[in-house]
Amino acid sequence: MVDAESFIPEAISEIEEEIGDGRAVMALSGGVDSSVCATLAYEAVGDRVTPVYVDTGLMRKGETETVRETFDYMDSLRVVDARDRFLEALEGVVDPEEKRRIVGENFIRVFEEVAHDIDADYIVQGTIYPDRVESEGNIKSHHNVGGLPDIIDFEGIVEPVRDLYKDEVREVARELDLPPEISERMPFPGPGLAIRVIGEVTEEKLEVVREANAVVEDELEDYEPWQALAAVAGRGTGVKGDERVHGWIVVVRAVESRDGMTAQAIDIDWETLQRIQSRITGTLPNVARVAYDVTHKPPATIEYE
Ligand code: XMP
Repeated sequence: MVDAESFIPEAISEIEEEIGDGRAVMALSGGVDSSVCATLAYEAVGDRVTPVYVDTGLMRKGETETVRETFDYMDSLRVVDARDRFLEALEGVVDPEEKRRIVGENFIRVFEEVAHDIDADYIVQGTIYPDRVESEGNIKSHHNVGGLPDIIDFEGIVEPVRDLYKDEVREVARELDLPPEISERMPFPGPGLAIRVIGEVTEEKLEVVREANAVVEDELEDYEPWQALAAVAGRGTGVKGDERVHGWIVVVRAVESRDGMTAQAIDIDWETLQRIQSRITGTLPNVARVAYDVTHKPPATIEYE
C-alpha cells in the first residue's frame, strides 16, 4: 500500500520537474484518478495546467455539478458542453467497440481544441497501473490510455498515479481532502453510459440508465461495492395498470474486485433488491422489469458492452 503522505510531495515535485516552465492540459473526468492528478498538477504548476472536463452527456447524474463545485477554485478549469456532439456521433451505432472508438475520437477532438488554444506542451493523464496492464494485453480499447498523445504533438506525458492501484489512489484522494463523492467514487468507464446501454444510444435510454445508476449507487452504498451499476439491456413486456407495455429491461450489477481484472458478483439481500426494483420502475414508467446479474468476471465482464 502506498504511503499517501509521502507520495503527495514526491508526486508534486515530479510534476514540477517534468512540466518545468511549460503548459499542460489534462482530461478531468470527475473520477478519483483524474481528480487526484488534477489536484496534484494544480498544486505543482498552478494555472499552467488546464483541467478540461468534457460533458459528453454520457456522465452520471450530478457528475458535472460535482466537478464544477469541487474544482471551482482552479481558475484554469474548462467545462465544455459537448452533449449534442456526442449524441449525434453515436446515432445508429450499435457495436460496443465502435461506440468506444467514437466516444474516444470525439473526446480527443474536443480536448485537442483546448490543447491548441492554450498552446499546451504537456499532457497529464490519470492512468493507473491496471489500465496499463489491460491496455498492453489489449483486452479492451481503453480510450484513456494511448490515443491522445499520438494525435497531438506533446513534448511529454505526465502520469502521476501510473504505478498505483485504485485503492491506493483513493488513499491519496483522502489525504488530499477531496470530497467523499470523489474519493469514494466508483470507477466509471471513459465511454460512460454509452456502454451501459445495449445497442443504439438514444436520449431516452440515457435518461433511463442515468436515473437507474443513481438509484443503484444510492441503495448499495452500504455494501461498499467496487462497482455497482445499471444497464439497459433491451425491451421486454410488462404490465402497468391494465395495459401491457413494451418497456425497458434494466439489469443491476454489483461487484467486488481489487483491480477490475477479475470480479465477484455480490450477494445482495432480497429487500434491497426489491427496493431498487420499485424505485426504478416507480420513477421510470418506461421500465418494464429489473433483473440482478449474478455472473462473476470471468466469464462476464463488469460492463455490459
Ligand atoms: P470490464 O467491463 O472490462 O471492465 O470488466 C473492467 C473495468 O474497466 C472499466 N472499463 C472501461 N474503462 N474505458 C474505460 O476507461 C473503457 O472502454 C472501459 N471498459 C470497461 C470498467 O468500468 C471496469 O471498472
